[in-house]
Amino acid sequence: MATDKTAVIGFPIDHSLSPVIHNHWIKALGLNIKPYEKISVDPSTFEEQINNLKAEGYGGLNVTVPLKELAFNISDETSGVSKKLKSVNTLSLSFEKINGDNTDAVGFINSLDKKTIEKNITNKKTLVLGAGGSARSVVYALNELGGHVRLFNRTTEKAQILLDDLSLNSSPVRAEELEDYANSSSFIINTTSLGQKAGEHNNILSFENIETETFIYDLIYNPKRSSFLEQAEAKGLKIQNGLRMLIEQAACSFQIWHKIKVDVSNELMSLLESA
Ligand code: ATR
Repeated sequence: MATDKTAVIGFPIDHSLSPVIHNHWIKALGLNIKPYEKISVDPSTFEEQINNLKAEGYGGLNVTVPLKELAFNISDETSGVSKKLKSVNTLSLSFEKINGDNTDAVGFINSLDKKTIEKNITNKKTLVLGAGGSARSVVYALNELGGHVRLFNRTTEKAQILLDDLSLNSSPVRAEELEDYANSSSFIINTTSLGQKAGEHNNILSFENIETETFIYDLIYNPKRSSFLEQAEAKGLKIQNGLRMLIEQAACSFQIWHKIKVDVSNELMSLLESA
C-alpha cells in the first residue's frame, strides 16, 4: 500500500524540486494519497519536529541539507549505505520505529549510462572535486563501480577525512598534482557548490589538456549548464548535469515508500528543465 503523507524537509527548502518530481508520479499513477509537500525544519529542534510530523501522520520524508546527519542519528534502523555514509536522505516513519535509508549513491549510479560506467569508470582513474556531503555519496558509488577514486578539495584535510571514513585506500589530490591527475582521469565530477550562484565561475580545473574521451559530470543542475560544463563542452567533451541523479534518487525513495518502481520519462525531464 502507498504511503499517504510524504514530504521533503530541509533548511531552507523553498527551492526544492522534489515536490515536482514526486507529485508528477503520484498524479501519473493516479495514487489516492496526499500531495508531496516541502517543509522547513530547523536543525536546532530537529527531533521534536520529526516527532510532530510523525504524529501528524507523515509516513515518508526526504531529507536534504543540512539535516541528513541528524536524520541518521534519530533513525532506529538504517540501511548499510546510510551506515557507511552516516547520512540519511529517506525516512520511513511508522508507529513502532523510524527507518533511515540513503538513495543518493544508488541515484547517482542509476543516473549513469551503462556504457559510461564501463568505458569511463570501472578500473579507470576517476576524480571527484569537493569533499562535502554529496561528494561522500559520489565517492562511495564510484568505488562500488570499481573506479579508482581520488578527490581534490580546497581544504585537503576534509578530503582525507572523507577517504578515511569510507575506508578507501586512496589519497587526496594535492593542488600541485591536480592538473596531471585530471589529464589522466577518465571521469571527472564536480560536487562543489561553485558555479551555482549567478555569475560564479568554476575554475578549479584547466580543461586545456583533458583527454577527449573523458566524461565530465557536474552535480549542479541549476544552471542547466554550469560554467564547469560549459568549459568541458567547449572542448568537445561528453557532459552531464545533476538533474538525472536528482530524479533517480527520488525514484528510489518513491519505491521505498510506495513499493512502486517508476520510470524516468522524458516528460518529467522537460517538466523539471522548465521548473
Ligand atoms: P554538499 O552537501 O552540497 O556537498 P557541502 O557539504 O557544504 O555541500 O560541501 C561543499 C563543497 O564545496 C566542499 O567541498 C567545499 O570545499 P571546502 O571543504 O574547502 O569548504 C566546496 N566549495 C564550496 N565553495 C567553494 C569554492 N569557492 N571553491 C572551492 N570549493 C568550494
